[in-house]
Amino acid sequence: MKTLLFAALAAAVSLSAVGAAKAQNYPTQPVTLMIPFSAGGPTDVIARLLAQVMSEDLGQQVLVENVTGAGGTLASGRLAQSTPDGHTVLLHHMGIATSATLYRNLPYDPLTAFDYVGQVTTVPMLLVSRPDYPAEDFKQLLEMIREKPEETLLANAGPGAVSHLCGMLFMQAVGVQLTTVPYPGTGPAMTDTMGGQVDLLCDQTTGATNPVQSKAVKAYATATTERIAVLPDVPTALEQGLDGFEIGVWHGMYVPAGTPEPVKERLTGSLQKALQNETVIRRFAELGTEPVPQEDATPESLEKHYKEQIEFWRPLIEEAGEYAN
Ligand code: MLT
Repeated sequence: MKTLLFAALAAAVSLSAVGAAKAQNYPTQPVTLMIPFSAGGPTDVIARLLAQVMSEDLGQQVLVENVTGAGGTLASGRLAQSTPDGHTVLLHHMGIATSATLYRNLPYDPLTAFDYVGQVTTVPMLLVSRPDYPAEDFKQLLEMIREKPEETLLANAGPGAVSHLCGMLFMQAVGVQLTTVPYPGTGPAMTDTMGGQVDLLCDQTTGATNPVQSKAVKAYATATTERIAVLPDVPTALEQGLDGFEIGVWHGMYVPAGTPEPVKERLTGSLQKALQNETVIRRFAELGTEPVPQEDATPESLEKHYKEQIEFWRPLIEEAGEYAN
């Protein structure tokens, strides 16, 4: 009996030693960096910039995978079910916190399903329109949509997406209900806005800066307290008389709960290095954003912020009573 017990103990010890050794050698294969929205969109842009630099640092390819659907919760659910070995990582924005209340039948527990790598960035948003939208300025735009709200098509990436939240804020501030058109991400929503298939879109600067600068879309107002440095000619909604239309989008990097400490430390270190990389800083700036300070690119900071944001949005969503399922 004693011998059996000893053998079982020895096996357990050697297995955990193998686990620890594996964690020390991390990564042992390419790392999948899931994002919950389409290719070419604002989250995708950030993910691909980070993936390139983190690949070099980790010595393994970091491959971006677009896992779209259900306002980003499909990707979060996939992460929750992944092996917690650091080879599957999720980059998501604040939608991961609003979804905790918005979706009543999530396939994971938002408070226990994840471990945290760090915060990444906060991105401003703005309202754009198809290039031939007839309104000459924001005032005229408001008059036109108030006149024909149902005929005005407002694109978004579905409940759980920040374009959806931003659109709701806009409609609430103006006091109209427009016709919303959901897409799997604002990448394709922006393409359709440029093509004139929809009228309006509220998007992050990481997706909207280039189309605005090249005049592929018109920009009417930013959802910020101050003008955005890369788009200095676009006035804020506030300075044009519209109150209550303000939103900034934070992003974080997550792994499944139970990921070994050394693996998380390696990922956090790699994220911090990427956020200090000159090319990343320059490209972020060109897209109207900047990396978070290093002390926020940490598991503790992201966990705190994520959980505070779930609590912040819960009563607002419950009061609105508009759930996604
Ligand atoms: C995207 O990357 O497509 C956007 O972040 C979607 C959204 O509006 O949340």
